[in-house]
Amino acid sequence: MRLALNAITDELRRLKASGVESVPVSDEGIASLRALVGPAVPARPAAPQRAAARQAEPENGRPEPPATPVVVLPKGDKAAQWAALRQLVQDDPVCRTKVRPGKKIVLGVGSLDAAIMFVGEAPGAEEEVQGEPFVGPAGQLLNKMIGGMALSRGDVYIGNIMNWRPDLPLGPDGVQTGNRPPTDAEMAHCLPYLRAQIDIVNPRLLVALGATAAKGLLGGKAFGALGEVRGRWHDFSGRPLMVTYHPSYILRNPTNRTKRLIWEDLLKVMERANLPVSEKQRGFFL
Ligand code: URA
Repeated sequence: MRLALNAITDELRRLKASGVESVPVSDEGIASLRALVGPAVPARPAAPQRAAARQAEPENGRPEPPATPVVVLPKGDKAAQWAALRQLVQDDPVCRTKVRPGKKIVLGVGSLDAAIMFVGEAPGAEEEVQGEPFVGPAGQLLNKMIGGMALSRGDVYIGNIMNWRPDLPLGPDGVQTGNRPPTDAEMAHCLPYLRAQIDIVNPRLLVALGATAAKGLLGGKAFGALGEVRGRWHDFSGRPLMVTYHPSYILRNPTNRTKRLIWEDLLKVMERANLPVSEKQRGFFL
């Protein structure tokens, strides 16, 4: 497909360079071009727009690398921008294909004026039903972590790298059990939507929950184990980024030691966000 498109664009460039200003294209020609390009992105009356789409490299033999959207936010206040972004994600043909019938695409939730934005991996079983991030068991724990900071869910913004639940083969009952981390191509498709949420909310700092969020937000910065990057400040496009464990890690290892590790990271977040820290908070899980 790419070869055919390259040949066409090369020929159009050659014609343009030789002074040709327009080329008649028959209905059959348009139909053939549509077939090469794939399903059309539905036109939206108002921006934001997917200004262009880059094709991700094939990965793990998966036949269908999703194109990477480029989001251009419309002018307007944060609420209008967020609503427009949500519509864009809802209309994204890749998101629509990836989300299972009857399940929901998931965008972030919380205060659009939040100073702190938490970023997780991907929706799980509960999230794809409710269409909201972190509403299952990991979400309950995240709520407690936020509560420990003397904040509530509505004071922060909570997003994910992914807008859909990465698929696994369904069980005999037709239900997906378990989750898998997203592929690089899947992450590349959703990251522009997370970036747009960061642009809209404009938080003072970001907290990556777990390895997938760290991988997505640290971009090309390679790391092996999460311990190599956790508990330290990094940079995400000029914004401080703290990497810590995913709440599900604590659910799997509910010891005071692991709770303290994640809590120490959150104490650093509180300090950087100029939140008051009481002696009691300082001593949690010691
Ligand atoms: N885990 C995540 O990373 N995100 C969710 O929204 C839920 C569970």
